[in-house]
Amino acid sequence: MKFNIAVLPGDGVGPDVIKEAQRVLDAVGKRFGHQFDYSPGYIGGTAIDKFGEALPRETLEMCRKCDAVLLGAVGGPKWDDPNASTRPEDGLLAIRKGLGLFANLRPVKMFKVLENSTSLKPEIVRNVDMMVIRELTGGLYFGKPKKRWNTTRGRRAVDAMYYTEKEIERIIRVGFELAMSRRKKLTSVDKANVLESSRLWRQIAGEIAGAYPQVKLDNMLVDACAMRLIQNPSYFDVIVTENTFGDILTDEASMLAGSMGMLPSASLSGIPAGKSARAFGLYEPIHGSAPDIAGRDMANPIATILSAGMMLNYSFGLGREALAVERAVRQVLDEGYRSRDIMTEGMKLAGTVEMGKLIAERIKT
Ligand code: IPM
Ligand code: MG
Repeated sequence: MKFNIAVLPGDGVGPDVIKEAQRVLDAVGKRFGHQFDYSPGYIGGTAIDKFGEALPRETLEMCRKCDAVLLGAVGGPKWDDPNASTRPEDGLLAIRKGLGLFANLRPVKMFKVLENSTSLKPEIVRNVDMMVIRELTGGLYFGKPKKRWNTTRGRRAVDAMYYTEKEIERIIRVGFELAMSRRKKLTSVDKANVLESSRLWRQIAGEIAGAYPQVKLDNMLVDACAMRLIQNPSYFDVIVTENTFGDILTDEASMLAGSMGMLPSASLSGIPAGKSARAFGLYEPIHGSAPDIAGRDMANPIATILSAGMMLNYSFGLGREALAVERAVRQVLDEGYRSRDIMTEGMKLAGTVEMGKLIAERIKT
């Protein structure tokens, strides 16, 4: 089959890791007989420099014509001025909103060989295998009013956590659908003891639960969830939560897998129901642009490579090919190769390019 992928390398290590993900996709294409065509585009700081905006209209339109989007990272100290009218991160928010990517899937899975590479005890992280689903186009990130202003009694600012029933319902459904395809346990995370938006969230979760009698739903407060993630992370199967909570909890959860450099993500515009269903999506590593190591062959490309794997699965319906990517990554780790972020004594240090090549070589049908 033939697929057209919008490729947005972005800033910092973005271009470094994207190149390796493309290398692995090409290997998949060769082994399984598919053709992946790439349409490059600008986003983030490099787009600000070239076009004066973080998400140029050309980029958004090009993405709309493609089958999926592969993104590196955005941001860097060069564009960090708090008074700047636009920031690289605005590009990320605009593309999520512009493409209707409301469902952000962030799987946190422990590769067994890395169980001694995290900052937690190996017995705590050993069986970690969860899917965090973050609502991505609502809540504090997009709610109005959103502004900073001066008054005679000092400066003020407001962000609003705003949710509609429809927004909550569709993301909760993604939670139930994914729970059905996994261990059938869904934890809905909110702050219903304080926030009205959370009380509505919890109410709707309870209503939808009726349609999924096989799934065990539990509601958990976000502060308790933050604690449980460290205390007993293998408790979780699928977590579904609103935008800001999901942002914070997934950085925390990423440490369970050893490094941010290991974790992929998918941002979908639909509910991935059933094996053959395909959703349009954007795929990116959850790490940032790491400008200090950009262009130095030091970044871990695994998160981006695994993101490309998620693309094969969720947007192209190529489950077998996605599995081949995951297996190739595991094999390279099992053989003792490590990027700098997960390096431990006695292992073989590999740069970004070498890591990409090793994984591409191990893609098997
Ligand atoms: C993420 C990032 C972004 C977010 C930033 C870069 C805007 O932290 O994808 O988790 O907050 O959503
Ligand atoms: Mg984040």
